Amino acid sequence: MSKTKILMVCLGNICRSPLAEGILRDKLDPTLFEVDSTGTGPWHVGNPPDPRSVAVARKNGLDISNLRGRQFSPKDFKDFHHIYVMDSSNLENVLRLAPSPADQEKVSMILDTLFPGEKVDVPDPYHGLDDGFDRVYDMLEESCEVIAQQLH
Ligand code: 4NP
Repeated sequence: MSKTKILMVCLGNICRSPLAEGILRDKLDPTLFEVDSTGTGPWHVGNPPDPRSVAVARKNGLDISNLRGRQFSPKDFKDFHHIYVMDSSNLENVLRLAPSPADQEKVSMILDTLFPGEKVDVPDPYHGLDDGFDRVYDMLEESCEVIAQQLH
C-alpha cells in the first residue's frame, strides 16, 4: 500500500514548517506516512532550519537539523495528499498554484485543526524574539496532535 503523504508549508521553510514536519513525523507510523515541508519563497533553498527552530525542537526531544529548505512547486499537488499551510498568505500563494479544484481541497490552514473556520495564523517568528519560537512550537504541537489523531 502506498503511504499517505503530508506537506507542511510556510514562507521560508526554515522556521515554522520544518518544526511542523518534525513534530508530525514523530507522531506517525513511518511505514504508513511520509511528512515533508517546503516554503513558498526561494531564499532558503538548500539551507538548514533557523538555529532557533533547531534549538526549540531539540529542547522538546526532536532533531530537525538535517532538514534542508526547498521551494513549493505545483508538482507538490501530485505528490501529496494533505497540504497544511501556516498562514493566510501561504494559503493564497499555494492555492494560486493549484492545478484543479480537487487539488485546492487538499490545502488547509494548520490552525483550522484547533480553531475551525477562524483562519488563525501561526505567526512568523523570523523577525521576533526567541520566545516566539516556543509559542510557535506549542501551537504546532497541539495542532499536529489533532492531525495525527485524524489520520490514524
Ligand atoms: P518561515 O519564516 O516562513 O517560518 O520559515 C521565515 C523565514 C525567512 C524569511 C521569511 C519567513 N525570509 O524572508 O527570509
